[in-house]
Amino acid sequence: MPCWKEVNKSLILKNNLWCKSTLDTKTVYDQNATKWLRTAPSSLSDFTARPLVFDACGEQLERRSVLDLGCGEGYCARELKRRGAGAYLGVDLSDEMIQIAQQQEQQDQYGIEYVSCDVTNFKPEGQFDLCIAVFLFNYLSVEDMHQVMATAYDAITPGGHFIFSVPHPFFPFVRQEEAPPFYFSSSGKNYFADVNQQFEGKIWKKGGEALHVQCVHKTFDDYFRGLRQAGFNTMPELQELTVTTELAQTDPEFFSPLINQPLHLLFKVSR
Ligand SMILES: C[S@@+](CC[C@H](N)C(=O)[O-])C[C@H]1O[C@@H](n2cnc3c(N)ncnc32)[C@H](O)[C@@H]1O
Repeated sequence: MPCWKEVNKSLILKNNLWCKSTLDTKTVYDQNATKWLRTAPSSLSDFTARPLVFDACGEQLERRSVLDLGCGEGYCARELKRRGAGAYLGVDLSDEMIQIAQQQEQQDQYGIEYVSCDVTNFKPEGQFDLCIAVFLFNYLSVEDMHQVMATAYDAITPGGHFIFSVPHPFFPFVRQEEAPPFYFSSSGKNYFADVNQQFEGKIWKKGGEALHVQCVHKTFDDYFRGLRQAGFNTMPELQELTVTTELAQTDPEFFSPLINQPLHLLFKVSR
């Protein structure tokens, strides 16, 4: 399995542009890894997206094996283990996020394996019952995302599932206000013309701290075409996630700016 540093060296020579944008993402996560560590829901998407990802994976995972692409500091890994997941491999570009995940694993002893690696150059050994990618694809170009979707297809056992969440492609255009609890800057950007452009943004934690996030813009077509080209030929289940009035009532000050806004997409597709 190539590690990030080996892969990076050859890619610098091959493609400076690719390397620059990827290094930026790595730097963002390396520098903010401690801010991301959480043992209970705290950032907006811990309420608006991740619980729905977990539900899509199933209440009882019954020892199903999981490949977690862009696993970060392991928030999703720990929850899926608590829900009964079996063998678990988490992969992330950021050495710091992986180090924090491993430190947490030493305390918890859930049996999660973490590897620091770029998913665009990653070929797992063996297959998994489930592959997840929670807010990974907003860091990849359309072309890299399509390649990773093909990797996910190969990595899943027949009958297994690929589940991923991404920012809703309309969100940066619908919410132009750069304010809490979530935004992506899209001033002067166009839905079709600015595919593969990186939008900078922030997502807030309930305590008031903001996390730096990025979104390489894609259209609906980019997601569906990528899945088809990767080999997925069943109809994906698609959920468009928002802040419901019920969720807003639990903390009106935090959630109400986003009631009924198109925040995220959740895809579930079987191989
Ligand atoms: C928003 S965080 C989500 C982390 C985790 N999935 C979660 O839901 O808590 C995005 C993660 O994707 C990782 N990432 C971005 N580009 C990547 C790449 N090319 N290969 C592997 N991981 C990547 C980042 O390092 C970061 O940890």
